[in-house]
Amino acid sequence: MKFQGISANFTEANVDALAVAIFKGEKASSGVLSEMDKLTGGLIAAVVKSEEFKGESGQIVLLRFASAGKVKATRLLLVGVGEKADYNAASVAEVSGTATRYLRKRNVKSFALLARSEASATEVAQQAVCGFITSQFDLDKYKTKDKQDKTVDGLVVCVEGAKPADLKNGIARGQAIGESMNFTRDLANEPPNILHPTEMGKRAAAMAKETGLKCEILDEAKMIKLGMGSLMSVSIGSTQPAQMIVLKYTPAKSTGKKGELLALVGKGITFDTGGISLKPGEGMDAMKYDMSGGATVIGAMRAIALLKPSVPVIGIVAAVENMPDGSASRPSDVVTAMNGKTIEILNTDAEGRLVLADAVAYAEKQGATTIVDMATLTGAVIVALGDQNTGIMGTDQGLVDEIIACGKETGEGFWQLPLSAEYSKQIRSDIADIKNIGPRGKAGTIMGAVFIQEFVDKAKWAHLDIAGTAWIDPAKPHMSKGPTAVALRTLVSLVERSQ
Ligand code: BES
Ligand code: MN
Ligand code: ZN
Repeated sequence: MKFQGISANFTEANVDALAVAIFKGEKASSGVLSEMDKLTGGLIAAVVKSEEFKGESGQIVLLRFASAGKVKATRLLLVGVGEKADYNAASVAEVSGTATRYLRKRNVKSFALLARSEASATEVAQQAVCGFITSQFDLDKYKTKDKQDKTVDGLVVCVEGAKPADLKNGIARGQAIGESMNFTRDLANEPPNILHPTEMGKRAAAMAKETGLKCEILDEAKMIKLGMGSLMSVSIGSTQPAQMIVLKYTPAKSTGKKGELLALVGKGITFDTGGISLKPGEGMDAMKYDMSGGATVIGAMRAIALLKPSVPVIGIVAAVENMPDGSASRPSDVVTAMNGKTIEILNTDAEGRLVLADAVAYAEKQGATTIVDMATLTGAVIVALGDQNTGIMGTDQGLVDEIIACGKETGEGFWQLPLSAEYSKQIRSDIADIKNIGPRGKAGTIMGAVFIQEFVDKAKWAHLDIAGTAWIDPAKPHMSKGPTAVALRTLVSLVERSQ
């Protein structure tokens, strides 16, 4: 893939097509649109006048220039982006992705994007490149025929008057983040017979070697020695051994406060059958995505390694398979977690919180002062928020607010749900310290969070329930169906803001 930024006029771009963002109700009578309209012999004014195209979000028109003239491109793509007031930097990634997927189908190999955003040139280039890269991810890795074989190979980002260095920087950032998102999506999409915990560890280790991160993998013997009875209770019914994947990023020169360490912790259930509390067969296949939180942590660490922020970050993934067999945990079993708390397991399908309990405790043991965990934790969050917003809960309002703000900037929605002692009371067990489920049908997402909260001691903590947002079906104009790498961009932004 070839990326270029140009600050000269868009007519200079040596590409097959031009793609331009058009706002709702916009006329072709002023500025760059009027210029483009003239170059196209009044084509834009004509489609606008005929009301064939109104600039509504998602509307697309492809035009062909009548004669080779001043513009090198032969086609013009108008991409409707809706209200100008709602158009922000994150929208640029969607416009770019939408244009890429539309043009790809029509054999176009390169295009120049006029995003017409008021964001900085660096930001526009970053978003354009990130959207371009993520839009071309497909699910067909294991097809032997009928694979998506068309690609758009070149993107020229046009921002008039931009500094070339800013465009270059934005392009590099967009590549780092976009490719890391696809890395995460590839992991999430892998079938569970191929991506079991050991393979997840291998992929993380290979990535770490390539990008200069430190990677340590704790095996089951080590985890048992550390007292991770909660995590191990999930793994015990599987023939696949659990792995605790630990990735460390240390900046060359740190600007962060001494002693502060951010940990990103992910649920990495490579397949969730429910265990002895077996899930119904229908739809169980979706549980290959139950390691999406872990995949996001690995991808975010990859992006961080490439972007080199000046603060340290540790990434921890509890990679475990949840299977039923003769040695599997039973509902009513009692286990002891690494922090000494005893847990009555009342439902073996509430396994995510069991592995995260030991993972967050381990993060704090490693020196984490801030912990953000992410997990496809509850079906209840899908009922509450659908696939538009990730559920967020936490003990530190400043941290929660910061994540929500980062999400606004990157175009990812987070919606906060409350935590309180009243809720925590509901997971008190009759026979152990806590139980792994709350009352049936009541605040399921919060019950998952208050459980994990029991294993965080002093660190600031936020929990992201990505069960509704980690994958999409059907596809969107800018993205294939399947894994989304949700929260990756937000976490990268959180790290960069803390520099
Ligand atoms: N991995 C599931 C949650 C999930 C459900 C993710 C649907 C994505 C789509 C999790 O391990 C689970 O089974 N949660 C249970 C918890 C319950 C037993 C308290 C649930 O949500 O039903
Ligand atoms: Mn489960
Ligand atoms: Zn699960």
